[in-house]
Amino acid sequence: MQVLNPVKSVGIAFATYVVQSTSHKTVLPIISCNRKYSKMSKLRGADRLKGTEKNVWVEFGKLAVDYKALNLGQGFPDFKPPQHVIDKMVHAVDGSDNALLSQYTRSYGHPRLVNVLAKLYSPLMGRTLDPMNNITISIGAYGVLFCAIQGLINPGDEVVIVEPYFDCYEPMVKVAGAIPKYVPLRPIKKEGVLSSDDWKLDPVELESKFSAKTKAIMINNPNNPVGKVFRKEELEMIANLCKKYDCICISDEVYEWMIYDDNKHLKIASLPGMWERTITMGSAGKTFSATGWKLGWGVGPDHLIKPMQVLHQNCIYTCPTPIQEAVAEGLEYELSIQDKKEECYLTSLALELKPKRDALAKSLTEIGMIPTIPDGGYFMMADISNLNIDIPDDGTKDPYDFKFVRWLCKEKRLSVIPPSAFYNQEHKNLGEKFVRFCFIKKDETLAKADEIFKEWKASQGK
Ligand SMILES: Cc1ncc(COP(=O)(O)O)c(C=O)c1O
Repeated sequence: MQVLNPVKSVGIAFATYVVQSTSHKTVLPIISCNRKYSKMSKLRGADRLKGTEKNVWVEFGKLAVDYKALNLGQGFPDFKPPQHVIDKMVHAVDGSDNALLSQYTRSYGHPRLVNVLAKLYSPLMGRTLDPMNNITISIGAYGVLFCAIQGLINPGDEVVIVEPYFDCYEPMVKVAGAIPKYVPLRPIKKEGVLSSDDWKLDPVELESKFSAKTKAIMINNPNNPVGKVFRKEELEMIANLCKKYDCICISDEVYEWMIYDDNKHLKIASLPGMWERTITMGSAGKTFSATGWKLGWGVGPDHLIKPMQVLHQNCIYTCPTPIQEAVAEGLEYELSIQDKKEECYLTSLALELKPKRDALAKSLTEIGMIPTIPDGGYFMMADISNLNIDIPDDGTKDPYDFKFVRWLCKEKRLSVIPPSAFYNQEHKNLGEKFVRFCFIKKDETLAKADEIFKEWKASQGK
């Protein structure tokens, strides 16, 4: 299918695009920027979306494609999911006699999937989970975040967000009519290669963001983009504030299985007094290297899960059955081999990623960047301030990292992500001297990136 040129404008604020497939032509209306009418007309978007138009994935995903750049930007692997999960998906769609696998399934999650998730998470949460009432499924962790924020947060509530944050937290909270209160992780080490553990929350600054109006705190553990795996005492500090101010903890743990070296991932929901106030998010896309499958889950007590299910049943209803069936079967298999660290995908992926992490850190150090070595996740922050690149003015007022990343893509054909997108307006300066690299890529891809750096370095010597 191909999008052809826009054809003549029809109606008031719509233009028409012709989308041509091999067999037929379809005429689709799309919103145009017809200035004459857009200000006054009611044919425009809802006011609550104002200020949320920019999206880092949309801009930098397109730029990478336009410049045919090597993509170490957005967080997805350039290799396939485990073969047994693919086989299960094919079987669910075409190999099974069960015709119902292609029809709607239970709104809040396919029974086979919620059952295996309850088995997987019960020991990690330190309690026996009820698959029907403690788990809810949605379209990726994005969908679960949306259900949590729309289902649990009221207009006027305050939500504490730890920076750098996954970029959608801010617009989701604002669209719900709530007020975000930001608190940054700050690198405490000023020189040399950093560890993600060197990025800390200041306890006084953190507590200063809480008040009687605080409804929730959003954390991401392991953190994207820093790779920080929160230590027990750090989680306890957050937990104590949640209890003191009686608020919910929204804990996004989509990178829970990608933990390196001797680090341990601890679920904040498992700490004393936290189960009843925590929603924990996971993602099949991240767990099985299948980000395009877009399936996620929220785990929590029934009084928090129920409102999320109510939201989900009315705006999405249910997620694709074959994907849920395949992920369920895939997890059942992984659970059956969980004691075989090198075979079970839940543990073997991190073993596979660790040398990739180390290779990337070496390449970045050689070109003069200062990496933060992540304890978890599959991203690496790198300080670019020592590079002293004189970036030509690109006509925007964007932070330095945005300009640097555009320049890198156009001049060096390498696509990465500007981390100031993960900070609110007032704190963008904290992110703009870094760029974010994704290292869940084939070894050949990382070797190509290394070649780009080597050529770049050689050209600097000329
Ligand atoms: C921290 C974090 N949360 C949530 C998501 C979204 O996950 P999903 O693809 O399952 O919607 C991502 C995706 O990159 C992420 O990095």
